[in-house]
Amino acid sequence: MSTVFITSTGTDIGKTFVAAGLIRHFRRVGQPVDAIKPIVSGFDPTAVAASDPGVLLAGLGRTISPEEIERVSPWRFRAALAPDLAAAREGRTLDFDAIVEFSRRAMAAHKGALLIEAVGGIMVPLAGRRTVLDWLTLLRVPALLVVGSYLGTISHTLTALHVLAQRKLDIAAIVVSESEGSPVPLDDTTGTIARFAEGFEVIGIPRLPRGADHLAFGRIAQLF
Ligand SMILES: Nc1ncnc2c1ncn2[C@@H]1O[C@H](COP(=O)(O)OP(=O)(O)OP(=O)(O)O)[C@@H](O)[C@H]1O
Ligand SMILES: [Mg+2]
Repeated sequence: MSTVFITSTGTDIGKTFVAAGLIRHFRRVGQPVDAIKPIVSGFDPTAVAASDPGVLLAGLGRTISPEEIERVSPWRFRAALAPDLAAAREGRTLDFDAIVEFSRRAMAAHKGALLIEAVGGIMVPLAGRRTVLDWLTLLRVPALLVVGSYLGTISHTLTALHVLAQRKLDIAAIVVSESEGSPVPLDDTTGTIARFAEGFEVIGIPRLPRGADHLAFGRIAQLF
């Protein structure tokens, strides 16, 4: 059990949904777990419980206090834009080295499973020409690639796998979190991805009610 970097093909796919499910699983089986989401854009200080750090903290059973939000998500921006643009709206920039350092310190401090939720998709710009992929490349921890089952996901998923392979990054699993109104059954999407992603675990998660348990979370938890 160690650190996993939860990334995706885009935004609003299911990273936080999967992270929260994993957190519930680890807590249920009595294993220590923590989660960070260092960069959040679209953060509304008046609706903190609905934010990614709010959801992660609730899953962890911790108070959703300003101190805890700061501990989980030190880089928060109001605009729901790519983080570099959201930061620019506030006259700020993202310090790439500080983000890497923050992640490394969290990894060193925590004993047990640490979930690092990235931001948006795998090549979202952070600062200058640095992207989420560069952040993951420096951390060198396994990626949990969360993808959807919407029309177009196969190409997005294979493209993400290609850049991860190019950097020789480990992939703990590919998780297909079923998109609303998927055009095909979930098994068709996981099957097609598995056909291309030989050697990788491809795990589907159907549409679930918020907070619901599912066997898939336990399967994923065993892979990192
Ligand atoms: N399998 C699923 N069943 C039910 N709802 C889901 C599922 N996967 C994702 N969702 C819902 O879809 C929405 C987007 O998911 P989520 O917030 O986890 O995306 P994200 O990838 O973390 O986005 P961001 O890039 O903003 O961090 C949420 O309302 C979430 O609860
Ligand atoms: Mg999220």
